[in-house]
Amino acid sequence: MPLLLPAGEEQAIQAAAQRMAAGSLVGMPTETVYGLAADADNATAVHRIFEAKGRPSDHPLIVHVSAGQAPLGWRAGVDHYASEVPAFAAALMQAFWPGPLTLILPRRSDVAAVAAGGQDSVGLRCPSHPVAQALLAAAAKQGVSGVAAPSANRFGRVSPTTAAHVAEEFAALPDDELLILDGGACPVGIESTIVDATRGHPVLLRPGMITTAQLEAACGQPVRSRDDAAPRASGTLESHYAPRAQVRLMDTQPLQAALDVLGSDARHIAIYAHSPLKAARGVGVRRMPPDAAQCAQELFAVLRELDATGVRLIWVETPPSGDDWDGVRDRLQRAAA
Ligand code: TXA
Ligand code: MG
Repeated sequence: MPLLLPAGEEQAIQAAAQRMAAGSLVGMPTETVYGLAADADNATAVHRIFEAKGRPSDHPLIVHVSAGQAPLGWRAGVDHYASEVPAFAAALMQAFWPGPLTLILPRRSDVAAVAAGGQDSVGLRCPSHPVAQALLAAAAKQGVSGVAAPSANRFGRVSPTTAAHVAEEFAALPDDELLILDGGACPVGIESTIVDATRGHPVLLRPGMITTAQLEAACGQPVRSRDDAAPRASGTLESHYAPRAQVRLMDTQPLQAALDVLGSDARHIAIYAHSPLKAARGVGVRRMPPDAAQCAQELFAVLRELDATGVRLIWVETPPSGDDWDGVRDRLQRAAA
């Protein structure tokens, strides 16, 4: 079993930083989801991430940098990895860092090639979670410039939003190979918004809780959506974030009609819906919060919970329209693909 330590203890942060500097893996809470973290400049350590996740090694990882002390203190980390920061990317950093935004930037050719999955770009993020920042600062003192961390789940599965989820995903790893910092439940709950800043104009690669409208307001430019020329991003594979049970997204009326027809036979189906549906006695309908941020916060934990009940089907009511729901809708569509 991995070693689980409460992140509130200063010794836990120090122990995690030491392990990281020595090339081993740390389960790191961030505001979005937990990451499986290692020194981004240590190729052997980064290989361990790919191996533990079962992720193809040509899928690039996000590198997390410290916010530093001074305003714009993340520039040291950014300059270590990126060869160039376009003005619109700097504006986005200033508006949303530390926070749930990842920027893809041109990579310095001599750093983090393994973490970048061989791409000539690098994904950078400065997380706002106090435990992530404490760990990044402590690791920086030991010479770690940045921390590569994909979501701490096995490849293709639902991202973890609690330390217990991480322990469950990597139960096979012994305590000397994985230390998990327990920082409680992640407040955002879905992965960061990803913007590609390598093409002269901002391109949205993955929606998250920072919306396109907010990005455009901050950088004063239209943000284009992803096209076929986008680099490989496993978070953008069509089927991803999938629980074991089969997820089906359904509009309100067909969902209600199916419940009417099935009656109490719907008991073997888990339902997650924002509308007040009528269901037969014994049919569990889990209510989706009316607010997108609240829904995102619980989404992956709910999918895991419903999955754990052993149902073969999870029926989810299509979330409301509106760009504040883009991130949630995207994750549900992938879970259903
Ligand atoms: O919120 C998050 O972003 C979480 C936390 C731990 O920070 N991390 C996360 O990592 O979701 P991961 O590896 O599960 O998803 C990162 C996405 C992947 O789809 C990856 O392919 C893409 O970012 N990505 C990373 N570097 C890239 C690059 N250089 N070019 C294109 N895509 C990149
Ligand atoms: Mg992931």
